[in-house]
Amino acid sequence: MHATPRSTDAAPRSPSRRTALVLGAVTALVAGTVGVGAASAPANTPGTVSSNGAGAAGKSHGKLPYLNPRLPTHKRVKDLLSRMTLAEKIGQMTQAERANATPADVTALGLGSILSGGGSVPADNSPEGWADMVDGFQQGALATRLKIPVLYGVDAVHGHANLYGATVFPHNIGLGATRDPRLVEKVSHITAEETRATGPQWNFAPCLCVVRDDRWGRSYESFGESPRLVSEMAVAVRGLQGRPGQLDNPDRVLATPKHFAGDGLTTFGTSEGDYTIDQGISIVSREDFARLALAPYWPAIRKYGAGSVMPSFSSVDWTEDGVGTNVLKMTAHTELLTGVLKGRMGFDGLVISDWEAIHQLPGDWNTQVRTAINAGIDMAMEPAQFREFITALTEEVQAGRVPMSRINDAVSRILTQKFELGLFEKPYTDRRNIDEVGSRQHRKVAREAVAKSQVLLKNRGWVLPLSKRAPLYVAGSNADNIGNQAGGWTLTWQGGSYHDFPGTTILEGIKDVSRGDVTVSETASAPVPRDATGVVVVGETPYAEGFGDVGGPQWAYDPGDNGIPRPVKDMKLSAADQQAVDTVCSQAAECVVVVVSGRPLEISPALLSKIDGLVAGWLPGSEGDGVADVLFGKKRFTGKLPVTWPRTVAQQPLNIGDADYDPLFPYGFGLRTR
Ligand code: GLC
Repeated sequence: MHATPRSTDAAPRSPSRRTALVLGAVTALVAGTVGVGAASAPANTPGTVSSNGAGAAGKSHGKLPYLNPRLPTHKRVKDLLSRMTLAEKIGQMTQAERANATPADVTALGLGSILSGGGSVPADNSPEGWADMVDGFQQGALATRLKIPVLYGVDAVHGHANLYGATVFPHNIGLGATRDPRLVEKVSHITAEETRATGPQWNFAPCLCVVRDDRWGRSYESFGESPRLVSEMAVAVRGLQGRPGQLDNPDRVLATPKHFAGDGLTTFGTSEGDYTIDQGISIVSREDFARLALAPYWPAIRKYGAGSVMPSFSSVDWTEDGVGTNVLKMTAHTELLTGVLKGRMGFDGLVISDWEAIHQLPGDWNTQVRTAINAGIDMAMEPAQFREFITALTEEVQAGRVPMSRINDAVSRILTQKFELGLFEKPYTDRRNIDEVGSRQHRKVAREAVAKSQVLLKNRGWVLPLSKRAPLYVAGSNADNIGNQAGGWTLTWQGGSYHDFPGTTILEGIKDVSRGDVTVSETASAPVPRDATGVVVVGETPYAEGFGDVGGPQWAYDPGDNGIPRPVKDMKLSAADQQAVDTVCSQAAECVVVVVSGRPLEISPALLSKIDGLVAGWLPGSEGDGVADVLFGKKRFTGKLPVTWPRTVAQQPLNIGDADYDPLFPYGFGLRTR
């Protein structure tokens, strides 16, 4: 259940999965749909787009109500729904992964959506390659009887970072440290522009998780431990979607607040399988769940109009019902999906299940499918078993165990988003902004976000800002590693230390500013000049989901890893990094340590006493020069801790407001520089 790979590069969980993944990729290549010249539709193909990109509506506008863009969306939905067969409706409720499906499958099955799992990229991983791939699937959709366009979804969780050359922004934990919702909206808007311009119209973001135990491998996907802070950052939804009526613009995408809800509330040790906290159980009262987990979804839905929501893999165990007596997976949680989300919150968008989350429910396959759909799932993310999903749901509807009213509700929600996105009028990628991908202007905003995300935790003797003329000695595992500074969900699902892509490392940023001698020695094995200022950049190697759980499983499937398992995560500095800090801070005139990580790391009192300046750098992404900007005072330090920085890992979970709150640095802490 856990080690499910997200990309064709990954060694899959089981032979059958591998066969499906490899066959899918081969088929797609043969079909010429994976980034190989599958440009927008050739002339005279059914549903051919006219030169202005108009879809079916451009041809038969006015003949069929659902193709009339002047009609209100609800009328178009009603008309189209009335024309659909059960098979066409269930097809719309089905999402497959690009490596396992072809445009011909989209046509034959009437698939409503295709996704790229983390790292699942076209053969030509360029903006044009992506747009051609997505348009290839769209061509398949427009060859169906009713020409219902397909939705293409990706995880552009810190920029469209599957795409080589995209602007890679700081992960959410760094954006939370900025305390700047306007900046977060701008970052999300740029992400939407770079995503839509390359094809995908749907982004499985933002994560509105409220991280309460930093041992969780997804801590960096959270804006922080405070539901108030995360609620403020729900503005990311507007950055992605724009305001009402803008979803059909070429720089907007459908947003997906996730993972509803309580993904960051799980208790350590409650996970099934080899994860330790990811996908575990939130053992909580309804009152605390509302306060800690549901809070950010109110603005996301009521204020910003999110068009889709993704339930969490995790479960909820209501304490007032008696711990252990009422434990339900979110994917099957009727009370929360239908009662709260669609009922009390009035959510009228679509609910997309997480990656094979349906498989985690009790019972046989048909029972799992029936339970999820009846609970409120509208579309199933079934990367490989999409055919089996269609078969099972069809059987359940025909047996009367899933009411037609539920199917019609789900399909209406899906069609509504497709109409709002303008896909019936412009189904193919609008490429007018494609040259903005990774542009200087976008990177400038990312660099600003990096600078604002840096949190100054210690500044003994005003070691910061650094003098441009001072001799420097730069060490540490994360000083010159763009893969490590970007973290997970970058080019591959898990990210990777070997990744290389456009951007600047922190060392490159330092060298760009410094006018003095800069000695570089990652392990501090080179002699340390007595008069030098040491800068030691330490931290974590990339991970995603449960592979980042403290004590969680090791990942060893990224090609660059050469089969070598990555270090098991422990929220501590590696021995090499500890040694580098000890060496440099003992011998240099003064020293600064920058921690590049997805969460706080344990720093012993002995080591901390040797450090003059300490900076939380989080996961800055492609623009490492933003770190240099604050180190040298080009920008002031303004960041504040989005999570509590504990003295030891053993203190976890440790959050502001806890009775025995005794952190090394409290939530909200951050020093300023002049
Ligand atoms: C993953 C993640 C989810 C992501 C989805 C598609 O399992 O839980 O955040 O959107 O799969 O990649």
